[in-house]
Amino acid sequence: MFTFPLPLFSFLLLFSTTTTAQPYKPTDYFLLNCGGASVTSNDRKWDTDERSKFIPSTTSFTSTTNNHHPSTPEIPYYTARLFNTSSFTYTFPVTNGPKFLRLYFYPATYSSHQANQSYFSVSSNGYTLLSNFSAFLTASYLGTNLVGSPPVPNFIKEFIIYVNDTQSLNVTFTPSPNSYAFINGIEIVSLPENLYYKSKYPKSIGQSAGPMIKEDIGLENIYRLNVGGIQIPPTGDTGMYRMWDQDYGYLLSAAGLTQVYKNPITYTAETPNYTAPEVVYATQRSMGKLSEYYNLTWLLPVDSGFYYMLRLHFCSIIPEYTRKHAVIFKIFINNQTAEQYADLFYWTQGTGFPVFKDYVVYVYDSDGSGRKQDLWLAMTPNLEATEEYNDAFLNGLEVFKLTMNRSLAGPNPELQPTPPSPPPPSPTGKKKTPPYAVIIGGIGGALVLMLSVLGFIVFRRVKRSGDKSDEQKSKDSGLPSGRCRRFTIQEVKDATKEFDETRVIGRGGFGMVYIGYIDNDKTAVAIKRLNALSKQGFHEFRTEIRLLSKLRHVQLVSLIGYCDDEGEMVLVYDYMSNGTLQDHLYKGKKPHLPWKRRLEICIGAAKGLHYLHTGVNRVIIHRDVKSTNILLDENFVAKVADFGLSKLGPKEKGVDYVSTAVKGTLGYMDPEYYKYQQLTEKSDVYSFGAVLLEVLCSRPAVINQGVPDEEMNLAEWGRKNYGKGTLHEIVDKRIRDEIAPNCLMKFGEVANSCLRMKGSKRPKMDEVVWRLEFALQLQEAAEKMDGEVSGDMKGGSGMSGNQEFMFPVKEEDVSVVEEYEYNYELEGSTGVGIQHGLTSTDGSSHEVFVSETILPR
Ligand SMILES: *[C@@H]1O[C@H](CO)[C@@H](O)[C@H](O)[C@H]1NC(C)=O
Ligand SMILES: *[C@@H]1O[C@H](CO)[C@@H](O)[C@H](O)[C@H]1NC(C)=O
Ligand SMILES: *[C@@H]1O[C@H](CO)[C@@H](O)[C@H](O)[C@H]1NC(C)=O
Ligand SMILES: *[C@@H]1O[C@H](CO)[C@@H](O)[C@H](O)[C@H]1NC(C)=O
Ligand SMILES: *[C@@H]1O[C@H](CO)[C@@H](O)[C@H](O)[C@H]1NC(C)=O
Ligand SMILES: *[C@@H]1O[C@H](CO)[C@@H](O)[C@H](O)[C@H]1NC(C)=O
Ligand SMILES: *[C@@H]1O[C@H](CO)[C@@H](O)[C@H](O)[C@H]1NC(C)=O
Ligand SMILES: *[C@@H]1O[C@H](CO)[C@@H](O)[C@H](O)[C@H]1NC(C)=O
Ligand SMILES: *[C@@H]1O[C@H](CO)[C@@H](O)[C@H](O)[C@H]1NC(C)=O
Repeated sequence: MFTFPLPLFSFLLLFSTTTTAQPYKPTDYFLLNCGGASVTSNDRKWDTDERSKFIPSTTSFTSTTNNHHPSTPEIPYYTARLFNTSSFTYTFPVTNGPKFLRLYFYPATYSSHQANQSYFSVSSNGYTLLSNFSAFLTASYLGTNLVGSPPVPNFIKEFIIYVNDTQSLNVTFTPSPNSYAFINGIEIVSLPENLYYKSKYPKSIGQSAGPMIKEDIGLENIYRLNVGGIQIPPTGDTGMYRMWDQDYGYLLSAAGLTQVYKNPITYTAETPNYTAPEVVYATQRSMGKLSEYYNLTWLLPVDSGFYYMLRLHFCSIIPEYTRKHAVIFKIFINNQTAEQYADLFYWTQGTGFPVFKDYVVYVYDSDGSGRKQDLWLAMTPNLEATEEYNDAFLNGLEVFKLTMNRSLAGPNPELQPTPPSPPPPSPTGKKKTPPYAVIIGGIGGALVLMLSVLGFIVFRRVKRSGDKSDEQKSKDSGLPSGRCRRFTIQEVKDATKEFDETRVIGRGGFGMVYIGYIDNDKTAVAIKRLNALSKQGFHEFRTEIRLLSKLRHVQLVSLIGYCDDEGEMVLVYDYMSNGTLQDHLYKGKKPHLPWKRRLEICIGAAKGLHYLHTGVNRVIIHRDVKSTNILLDENFVAKVADFGLSKLGPKEKGVDYVSTAVKGTLGYMDPEYYKYQQLTEKSDVYSFGAVLLEVLCSRPAVINQGVPDEEMNLAEWGRKNYGKGTLHEIVDKRIRDEIAPNCLMKFGEVANSCLRMKGSKRPKMDEVVWRLEFALQLQEAAEKMDGEVSGDMKGGSGMSGNQEFMFPVKEEDVSVVEEYEYNYELEGSTGVGIQHGLTSTDGSSHEVFVSETILPR
């Protein structure tokens, strides 16, 4: 199992306060710091393996590495036990039953032994776990897809061995000829007899009937995902110290919404409370209301030539879903139907309580190489069977490799090429500097590719390593280390050539932004140096870092490090090569973005904001959403930047730019916030609405000169046009012909709803996400139908007898018609209509318009 450290403990507090379940108490538990001392690290007590009863005294030696990777915890990784002569066996006295065996590896140089020279096999109680295994190649494979990062330094392999009447668990390391073996840590934890071992066959997918999971089968955990939720460290598990990873890096396409549920989860006899932590069941990824158009798909690379057991965890957390048949979906594993009628309420006798389902699938090895292939897991609503909601959802996923002829060993991955060298320093003449940092999110290690096919963004394989439980605190500052690196001031100066003027790429209210190169000039970063601030500013700086370092999302720019030496306040982000969204709309001299790419950028940014608002247990309001705070990486993936930092300004009186920064930017500012000083996440929704219009019209949110008064404020101008049904007239001319009319209408509707005067009437960001995704679907459907889209607003797209009725209605109608959905029958076809009531944004007049959208069912 591959894991990586991330400081997320506080996320768990939310759930631990409501957790009533007693954790499972393992009967056998060993945790060895191989080659090192007995020590307690992050609430876990590690024992030395020196002179212990588990090992014979000869034939091995210990070493401490000098390679200290910043993201690798010291315990247990910096020390190792090595074997370069013959086989070597650890013997653990245990009771009978299934045991987790976790092996911790950090391939580094130990004494003179180089990691790339080490090949060895590991066996246990008659099972081959690893054969001619190279930890170096494995780590290199795991690290390949980390954008601009060195290979993943450390990882854990997790196995389950059933100990049958032998009273001992032996772990034998055998070096390959002329090589050596090493191990950094060993963990053994017993688990409930019937958690994974069952006396009935799991459902078999495909032709070959899979095995039953009984005592003679050994398992290796390949993935364990808290779908739609956060990473859970071993200490957050139900007593077995399992690590649960995030799932977003494995998603094909930027699809699905994450859901969070805050009440306690009710476990059952079938699904006892140790099955998975509450937080796994309390979070999920669901497809949203437009799910008929796509498959929610995860891609999970695995070795071919083995059987795999997939355990899918479900629980109902969406309040509207309350009964059998309300939501029925299909599940596909490797493109074969695993469930035609997945219905959680049917499975759980109408309760919706947690439940898991096991499936076994064989991954064919077509060329005998055993190479990695993607295991596909997909789901989509069953439109024929569903009675109420077209949706599909998943809360958790575990994937295990099963022993084949008592072996789990696969081939070593090929040596991966090292990450590409950094781009040459950008032309640094200061003639055109973006107003804010050009930065990219440290995206939690996700490989982000853009596939032009269908315009889908593909977040493929993420590789991670490390062990969050070993996240350590910097001794003196109390700030997080691990994922969030602490830089020395010297490192920062080296990276920026002593804050050289030519390295400046941006100037903001808080200070300068420089481009810098770190890690032997391999990695380009954006370095933001905050102005010397008051004491209070310094305190807030630390508070903010603690908060920001916890936020990880593909659609957020996240911090990769900071420096607080010598009273400096420096923040380090990845460099983001495509600059700000604004550059691509009207400011820069960049080629114009096509419409679909603009839509995808909007969807991405909306997801980032949705995560900010709901991803952690406290609402985070950005306060300054605008097109210069949405940055684009080399694949035009949108990342929201500068969240949380608005609070970092100095507290001195009379400093103007701070107060404007705190309040937001003209043209994006929520009128309700402005009037009543009440800040809610709906203020971000308003600002985002202004961004949507900017994207549509390619003009600034405010134009002070040279336009009629009514056109000065884009939000008002856009709403006015939307209300009159003339939105198409103000669309950027360069893309006007690309936009499908019903897509424009949906888009306009979303922007309009975001810009409503009353915050309570604005949608939440998840709703914005799914509506924009719907707009994208409409665009794609129209393109498919027509081959080419005509720019004629009245022309039907062919797909949906979409119609627009505009007529003035009386003021008293407004209160009832905000948004009203009804079924319609029109010339033999049925569909759903949505009516929108809309007051004119111009407060002086009382004109009201109603528009109506009709969609086919
Ligand atoms: C969890 O399960 C254990 C073992 O059955 C039991 O002792 C404990 O009371 C359970 N906790 C809850 C809250 O059900
Ligand atoms: C094993 O390693 C030790 C320590 O580095 C070294 O002294 C010894 O010669 C090595 N033995 C072999 C067979 O390589
Ligand atoms: C192993 O790595 C070292 C550097 O750490 C390198 O000099 C050497 O060439 C590598 N050996 C092989 C066989 O790749
Ligand atoms: C484990 O090793 C011990 C001592 O080497 C041996 O007595 C025992 O039979 C072994 N157990 C298994 C399951 O192989
Ligand atoms: C072990 O694997 C390496 C690289 O995958 C290969 O070069 C070597 O021949 C293998 N050794 C054995 C004994 O299979
Ligand atoms: C487990 O032990 C029992 C009793 O000793 C034996 O009959 C059975 O074959 C063993 N199972 C395996 C998988 O070794
Ligand atoms: C599943 O189908 C997709 C295309 O629809 C294909 O690319 C993929 O290789 C298939 N996966 C498997 C495991 O057959
Ligand atoms: C979803 O995946 C299944 C299995 O690969 C495929 O048959 C189906 O056409 C897909 N549906 C959509 C909407 O892509
Ligand atoms: C496992 O053993 C069976 C029969 O003993 C054999 O047919 C099969 O090829 C073996 N599989 C592997 C992967 O070695």
